[in-house]
Amino acid sequence: MLDKINSLRKEIEGLTASSPEEVEQIRIKYLSKKGLVPALFNDFRSVPPEQKREMGQKLNELKEFATAKLNSLREALATTAEDDLAGIDLTRTATPAPFGTRHPLSLVKNEMLDIFARMGFTIAEGPEIEDDWHVFSSLNFAADHPARDMQDTFFIARNPADVLLRTHTSSVQTRVMESVKPPIRIVCPGRVYRNEAISARAHCFFHQVEGLYIDRNVSFADLRQALLYFAQQMFGPETKIRLRPSYFPFTEPSAEMDISCHICGGKGCPLCKGTGWVEILGCGMVDPNVLRACGIDPEEYSGYAFGMGIERIANLKYKVSDLRLFSENDVRFLHEFDAAH
Ligand code: PHE
Repeated sequence: MLDKINSLRKEIEGLTASSPEEVEQIRIKYLSKKGLVPALFNDFRSVPPEQKREMGQKLNELKEFATAKLNSLREALATTAEDDLAGIDLTRTATPAPFGTRHPLSLVKNEMLDIFARMGFTIAEGPEIEDDWHVFSSLNFAADHPARDMQDTFFIARNPADVLLRTHTSSVQTRVMESVKPPIRIVCPGRVYRNEAISARAHCFFHQVEGLYIDRNVSFADLRQALLYFAQQMFGPETKIRLRPSYFPFTEPSAEMDISCHICGGKGCPLCKGTGWVEILGCGMVDPNVLRACGIDPEEYSGYAFGMGIERIANLKYKVSDLRLFSENDVRFLHEFDAAH
């Protein structure tokens, strides 16, 4: 027994390990339940009683020795890891990982949505492939109404029910009014499609943010104030707005809104074509026919709506004059907006 203890002690003394895995193997071999040291404890049963005291002590010593050895092997490895780090210059610049950037339209959209969020508007979205009801009929476009010609529509299927690419995000107004009871206060960002020849100033698809507020006693003054707040947050506190009478089938009265030209401050420049004003959106009070079509009683509720192009706002904010740049994804153009995050 004593021989066994001594030879095992020698063996353990000479052990080395160059990795945590090796340390673990040593632990398993010597100290786990079925390891060599506990095995000696089993042999202890057959030791004659007069030697038990001495052998017991020796065995315990061996166990402590093995445990201490294991710990010192572990510690030795830890110092090696630190020594490795010592050879590395931690102040050296890392190899830069190329980052993507947010698309300018996403930046502008997010900024717009943030501004409206501060006024309590939540976000609603709807499908790009729509039907005639949501894009036109529910919005008070009569079947033969010339207003349908205002927007050249891409039709996907003519019959039985018209399937088409939405020409404006006003379709989301209908979807929300059909399913939610007032008060409703939403902004609807999304892509819209129109059959137009692609040029610097027109594209077959672009993006809009629609706004809708329906409640009791909503007035034109509320609309004006919300839009003034938006314009000043977006283009600066000195921005002025002006509303010009206009026509949309789904609003009555309707208006188009101009902001004072933020390039020349209203004095007149090429951007505002010398007028001092630039147009940014269409708006108005939701037509009672639209409310009725969506199951809302116009005697009880009123509301306002507005819609604007995200590209238009981005043009004004970042002075991008060619619409095509937004969809060509030329990284040189996109990287110009790195700093705008
Ligand atoms: N839908 C209109 C457009 O596409 C914009 C608009 C929205 C006007 C809401 C009034 C109210 O031009």
